[in-house]
Amino acid sequence: MTEENVLEALKNVTYPGFTKDIVTFGFVKDVAVDGSNVSLTIDITSSADEVKAQLTDEATTELKKAGFENININITAPQAPKQMSNSVSGKNIAPQVKNFVMVSSGKGGVGKSTTSVNIAIAMAMQGKKVGLLDADIYGPNIPRMMGVDDQKPEIQGNKVMPLKAYGVEIMSMGSLMEPGQSLIWRGSMIMKAIEQFLRDILWSELDVLVIDMPPGTGDAQLTLAQSVPVTAGITVTTPQEVSLDDSRRSLDMFQKLHIPTAGIIENMSGFICPSCETESDIFGMGTTEPVAKEYDTHVIARIPIEPAIRVGGDTGMPVTYHKPDSETAKRYQTAATDLLAFIDKVNAEGGADNQAIQPTTPPGVSACSTGA
Ligand SMILES: Nc1ncnc2c1ncn2[C@@H]1O[C@H](COP(=O)(O)OP(=O)(O)O)[C@@H](O)[C@H]1O
Ligand SMILES: [Mg+2]
Repeated sequence: MTEENVLEALKNVTYPGFTKDIVTFGFVKDVAVDGSNVSLTIDITSSADEVKAQLTDEATTELKKAGFENININITAPQAPKQMSNSVSGKNIAPQVKNFVMVSSGKGGVGKSTTSVNIAIAMAMQGKKVGLLDADIYGPNIPRMMGVDDQKPEIQGNKVMPLKAYGVEIMSMGSLMEPGQSLIWRGSMIMKAIEQFLRDILWSELDVLVIDMPPGTGDAQLTLAQSVPVTAGITVTTPQEVSLDDSRRSLDMFQKLHIPTAGIIENMSGFICPSCETESDIFGMGTTEPVAKEYDTHVIARIPIEPAIRVGGDTGMPVTYHKPDSETAKRYQTAATDLLAFIDKVNAEGGADNQAIQPTTPPGVSACSTGA
């Protein structure tokens, strides 16, 4: 008996719901024949138990007809889809994106954009489909940091194609405006812009969209949380007490907006001297741990001050990609792994849900209406 006999027999097994057989589909793998013993794998796309049972039965029947006696069929299928971001009870205006990560901070200049860039690239290097949305409408730095500041996105109808660099899809107000232009916007316009970034950008089917927020807790944060179920919130802080005070506000916001808190990134934590590679304490180190405990979360990473990080940001050559062996790149990689594990955990527990923070007025009724 040969592999040919096996494939010939299995051509009689159609994939449930389709007219094609499982051999033609290419689902049959790892066939091993030893006399009348056969073992094989059927690698299917459905995770439904009925499909698995039906295929095992039919394949066994066909192989027996062909004269095999000991039949060992292993079926591999993706895990049953978890109730992820596309939860029916919540609102998601970008349903092709599975998970949303909000990167926030109490104040500006602490390294939010640097963190967003390097974590997004690290996740892409780990095989995920990743997007990076620069929601810092007043201070869009992502295009420069990702090295796409000279590129203009392609318009398709009334939608916009994201830019792409380092395996990451990118969109930013900076890519839509002329360089140096400033914006003076009202809150309602910021809310509109955030919605358009989610609805009118042609994001692919992404595993994760990392969203670099403006500093603080305002309209942009609320709009984002109401528009899509945010799977994970990350707060970036520097170790000084003054920054920590602000990051408490950011952690408090995650709780109020029902955003699962992935943790804190302590940035500019110690200094790595470029000439001797030793790490020394400048702004303090480890001050973030007690704040993490207060909010029942943990410190995802401590990223030292490293001149290469600043240079990488200014020149559009992020360390995670361009200096993968550096200490900081390794820490971003570990942080990305940690974040992905957290996302899996949130999804395994039912996924993020923004139902509770939707505006309470019924559709068509303005929140300002007096109800007459
Ligand atoms: N760990 C670090 N080491 C060295 N420079 C850093 C580090 N983190 C951020 N920077 C630099 O500090 C500046 C502010 O960082 P940025 O990410 O733009 O902050 P934010 O987005 O919070 O305003 C940038 O020039 C960036 O390159
Ligand atoms: Mg920024």
